Amino acid sequence: MKTAAVKPAFDVEEIRAQFPILKELVHGKPLVYFDNAATSQKPRRVIKAESAYYATINANVHRGVHTLSTKATEAQEAARETIRKHINAKHAHEVIFTSGTTASMNLAAFSLGQLLLKKSDEVLISGMEHHANIVPWQLACERHGAKLKVIPVTDSGELAFGSSDHLIDQFTDRTRILAISHVSNTLGTINPVKELIAEAKKRSIITVVDGAQAIAHLDVDVQDLGCDLYAFSGHKAYGPTGTGVLYGREELLERMPPWQGGGEMIDVVTFEKTTYAKLPFKFEAGTPHIAGIIGLGEAFRWMEDYDKAAMAKHEHALLEHATKELLTIDGLRIIGTAKERVGVISFVIDGVHHYDLGTLLDQQGIAVRTGHHCTQPLMEHFGVSGTTRASFACFNTREEVGAMVAATRKAVKMLR
Ligand SMILES: Cc1ncc(COP(=O)(O)O)c(C=O)c1O
Repeated sequence: MKTAAVKPAFDVEEIRAQFPILKELVHGKPLVYFDNAATSQKPRRVIKAESAYYATINANVHRGVHTLSTKATEAQEAARETIRKHINAKHAHEVIFTSGTTASMNLAAFSLGQLLLKKSDEVLISGMEHHANIVPWQLACERHGAKLKVIPVTDSGELAFGSSDHLIDQFTDRTRILAISHVSNTLGTINPVKELIAEAKKRSIITVVDGAQAIAHLDVDVQDLGCDLYAFSGHKAYGPTGTGVLYGREELLERMPPWQGGGEMIDVVTFEKTTYAKLPFKFEAGTPHIAGIIGLGEAFRWMEDYDKAAMAKHEHALLEHATKELLTIDGLRIIGTAKERVGVISFVIDGVHHYDLGTLLDQQGIAVRTGHHCTQPLMEHFGVSGTTRASFACFNTREEVGAMVAATRKAVKMLR
């Protein structure tokens, strides 16, 4: 999955120098950006690739015979190939471009619902899902008279597998689809998706993975995972907003009906009947976000210049440091203490509202996210209205964690 030219050592200053936004001041203070789970910052190469498309080859893709259209098409399809390699998909046409994980999940739920769901069938998700991996399935279940079932979450923020250690007793003979997050956006928990997929496969259950929070932090190999569909957003992986991917196993994609209709996704249209284009175009109706897709390809090439394991190790060290230091603050509780986590830390503090804390941290130039993080059922499980969440990227530093902890301590004094 990696290119031969991986840089030897992890040098955070060398990485930081590539992110223009990190030179910005917020309220006169150096920006400390800890909201990477919402959207990551973009390296200069990505910004340049996107604007170079508009400045030099702007044209619509796939339809034109003229030079610009050919160049735009080649650049877009080169991005598809880069992503195919990165996630180790067998074929480039298994990589469908979408506007993000939300769109990918809506495509999956609509199309799989049409293909598979009958009255009283079940779709299994988990209690830690983002709304984007809940609501599309609820809609599909409503349309087809199916039921949404939920794998419970433990107090540490891990999936509760039921009575036996590994066997998943939430599966029933009516389960048709398992849709599960690879990594929780609120807790940082890394779910054992490979094991779950293996169990699902034994029962011929179709597996859909929400990889929104995994793609920038873990080595994602869709063939090794064995999943049927895998969704992610480009903008959480150093790429542009408005970009995303739905990977799908060829054989399943061939059977799935289209989600949206329009230009690009057709073969022949008459008023009586339409036949559809081959993969991936059957699922890509309308003009895509060409500039964004080109930027997304560049973001993946940028990530491949580094050792993802070294990036993950750096982010994990930040998580450990933040955990240790934050726990020295009186009345602070971390929500989500799973053994396997990425660099995401959610916490609540007695007598301090997360919104007030977020506002005071912002005044110190520190960007964290506050609220329910689009996981309202999970908030209910933990009995909180929201949390303060810091989520790390490869460009963050130990000093920045120190600044957040000091600013939090100061804010708590002011707010209590
Ligand atoms: C786990 C997870 N799934 C889905 C989404 C939705 O992603 P997007 O808003 O890019 O469509 C997010 C966004 O935060 C997420 O964290």
